[in-house]
Amino acid sequence: MSKPSENKQGAVQTTGHAWDGDLQEYNNPLPRWWLWGFYATVVFAVVYWFLYPAWPIGGTFTKGFATVTYEVNGEERTTHWNTRALLMRDMQTSPAAVRQREFLEVIAEATYDDILRDPDKISFVRSYAHGVFGDFCATCHQAGGAGIIGLYPTLADDDWLWGGTVERIEESIREGRLGYMPPFRETFDAEQLRAVSAYVLDIAGYDGGDEDEIRRGEAIFNGTDGGCFQCHDTGGTGRISQGAPNLTNNIWQIVDVAGAASYEARLALVQSVVRNGVQREMPAFGERLSPTEIKVLAAYVHQLGGGQ
Ligand code: HEC
Ligand code: HEC
Repeated sequence: MSKPSENKQGAVQTTGHAWDGDLQEYNNPLPRWWLWGFYATVVFAVVYWFLYPAWPIGGTFTKGFATVTYEVNGEERTTHWNTRALLMRDMQTSPAAVRQREFLEVIAEATYDDILRDPDKISFVRSYAHGVFGDFCATCHQAGGAGIIGLYPTLADDDWLWGGTVERIEESIREGRLGYMPPFRETFDAEQLRAVSAYVLDIAGYDGGDEDEIRRGEAIFNGTDGGCFQCHDTGGTGRISQGAPNLTNNIWQIVDVAGAASYEARLALVQSVVRNGVQREMPAFGERLSPTEIKVLAAYVHQLGGGQ
């Protein structure tokens, strides 16, 4: 290898290599703009290593000097720069988040009357509760509170087990509810079971029952033999203190009587409920959700069904 030499024209330096006799390589200096650009990237990289997480060392990494400060449960927390903390901070300080927090404070102070009458508040409640409902309630009560007959009551109609005032709804959410009806398979013989069920269909508005049988069923329902009235009230209109449904409105919680094809099929469904009883539970959310979240949910559920 020799020193760089002039090429044939003598204009541009070459590296001095020659292949195949006359094939030479120019030795042009790097363009200045390129070189400065290159130095800039080196400086940038070094600054970056100092500020941000960069190099793996063992099981960890260099964390850098940059920090992010965000709030957790009212406490300020500062960590090395990372995107998770950035997201936390954005969720707290973005204009939308700040507006949401301000509105939640308004809701926390407002009475239910205020909330339900003010279109702004109700539309905030709808959009905020929609997410909370999706996270905590929709697994059971389904989207929009549609419910599933036999499993989870619908929250989207005007028929309530435990009462449809917004205060009663709040109580259902905060404290949970245990819906319980004892099984009557030991109490009744087949004839009594049929009679009381025929009475239930009669008060629900279905024709086709035997009049004598219905009268016997009525006596069982509203007397001490059956004691159904203790929960469902005399005449079967329901008692919200027991979570016992109104049996006279043809809205069904446990068995889909309205959807059954014939009188006998309906009778069989009612008999199955009376024979087996019912037990189902709404979990309490008083510990899991804040009072304001519960308030928003109560207002939301109330307006889902038209409330009371
Ligand atoms: C694990 C399933 C489950 C979850 C989750 C659940 N619920 Fe319930 N909920 C039930 C059941 C079951 C009942 C019926 C209890 C009964 O039979 O008395 C019920 C009853 C209710 C009632 C009373 C309905 C009435 O007719 O009086 C309200 C209101 C209610 N739930 C709201 C909510 C809200 C709001 C949430 C979310 C925070 C929620 N539920 C989450 C299962 C659930
Ligand atoms: C201890 C209270 C209690 C007594 C006593 C009781 N029930 Fe019930 N019954 C309930 C409750 C509570 C439910 C609803 C449970 C739920 O929704 O989780 C219910 C549900 C029903 C249903 C289903 C209604 C539907 O919408 O699907 C029928 C039918 C019924 N009861 C009939 C009777 C008859 C008939 C008797 C008397 C033989 C009786 N019940 C006695 C509490 C009672």
